[in-house]
Amino acid sequence: MLGLNGPTLPRRTRVTALLATGAALTATLLGTFSGPANATPTVAAAAPDISVANVKGHLNQLQSIATANGGNRAHGRAGYKASIDYVKAKLDAAGYTTSIQQFTSSGATGYNLVADWPGGDANHVIFAGSHLDSVSAGPGINDNGSGSAAILETALTVAREGYKPDKHLRFAWWGAEELGLVGSKSYVNSLPGTERAKIDAYLNFDMIGSPNPGYFVYDDDTQLEKVFKDFFAAKNISTEIETEGDGRSDHASFKNAGVRVGGLFTGASSRKTAAQATKWGGTAGQAFDRCYHSSCDTTANINETALDNNSDAIAHAVWTLSAGATNPPGRTFENTADVAIPDAGSPVDSPIAVTGITGNAPSALQVGVDIKHTWRGDVSVDLVGPSGRAYRLKSASGNDSADNIVATYTVDASAETANGTWKLRVQDTAAQDTGYVDSWKLTF
Ligand code: TRP
Ligand code: ZN
Ligand code: CA
Repeated sequence: MLGLNGPTLPRRTRVTALLATGAALTATLLGTFSGPANATPTVAAAAPDISVANVKGHLNQLQSIATANGGNRAHGRAGYKASIDYVKAKLDAAGYTTSIQQFTSSGATGYNLVADWPGGDANHVIFAGSHLDSVSAGPGINDNGSGSAAILETALTVAREGYKPDKHLRFAWWGAEELGLVGSKSYVNSLPGTERAKIDAYLNFDMIGSPNPGYFVYDDDTQLEKVFKDFFAAKNISTEIETEGDGRSDHASFKNAGVRVGGLFTGASSRKTAAQATKWGGTAGQAFDRCYHSSCDTTANINETALDNNSDAIAHAVWTLSAGATNPPGRTFENTADVAIPDAGSPVDSPIAVTGITGNAPSALQVGVDIKHTWRGDVSVDLVGPSGRAYRLKSASGNDSADNIVATYTVDASAETANGTWKLRVQDTAAQDTGYVDSWKLTF
């Protein structure tokens, strides 16, 4: 249905709406099938190592975005929105429920991106955030591509591991921090008091890969401070309390609203002392970040070791504070055979035979879908369990003109026996545009 009005419709917002529908559906099924317990044994999950190569990959993308957009990613500039789009696409494909919050500052529209990991106790939220905007003088790779990329990779690792935290996980990327914490203030101010009270901890990461780094831990909350200090102590890295401008980042917006906050920092324009150079290495008498708020805050302005250690510290805090478990061994079954989807035709099935798993399927079965299609609004997608019951992943929505369905859906499949034949059932409901199932997979 290549409609006349198709190309003018907003294409981006549809993905969020679809995932939100999926999340609502999951919640409904959870309510209906609270009875049968998941038979798969669970083990307490240790925090995984965060791949610094992947974190640097995100930084390279943010650098490219700045380079393509006048050299910065500042509030109100094209490079900021492009940064939001990059992070959001990664999270959507990983199965997060994302939303964009708009605000106005200095006459320009600003954006916060909030991503919720489905599941966990909604009354106890562990929240990690980083500002995504740069100053207009440069690309802002240490300030604050570093925190943004590290929490993005942490969030993607949560999804990859199929982590099932006891508490609910939320991540956010704030806009217009550099204009006075504008985005995070806007978020906190618009958050109902009942929702604010559910946040057990807000963790802030702003500048965590400074080229001449120090290891600074926020001391706003003793318990949160201890979680980070324990991590570094185990690695024999000494830390100091963050003192370079208390309240100079987005955690202040939360702290002012009575939320417990913590965070990490590797230093901005203050100079490293001789004593600090002795314990951390680097150059005494020189700023932690000589490119702070400058055009030289590029991918060359990152200390990889500090970025690596701090990324792992973030994962340690997120896992420790949210507790939870993962189902071993996280087995994946995939069908990579192409299946043509007839135009405006009958549904087609792509099967996956699952064997060797004891008991029922998990309550958060991950269904990875890769469908190539020239107008995805034509397409509806269901997962069919071994019992024959269908779980709706995506409905057709005629006006969604975007290409392809590349997404990970979370399905409460705990009423199904894991072993047996599962099917992805796909139907094209409108004439003209066509496509095929490229591959799909199930992760138990
Ligand atoms: N984004 C902050 C700024 O540009 C950087 C900063 C300075 C900072 N001091 C800090 C961040 C202390 C965290 C903690 O002002
Ligand atoms: Zn910053
Ligand atoms: Ca069609």
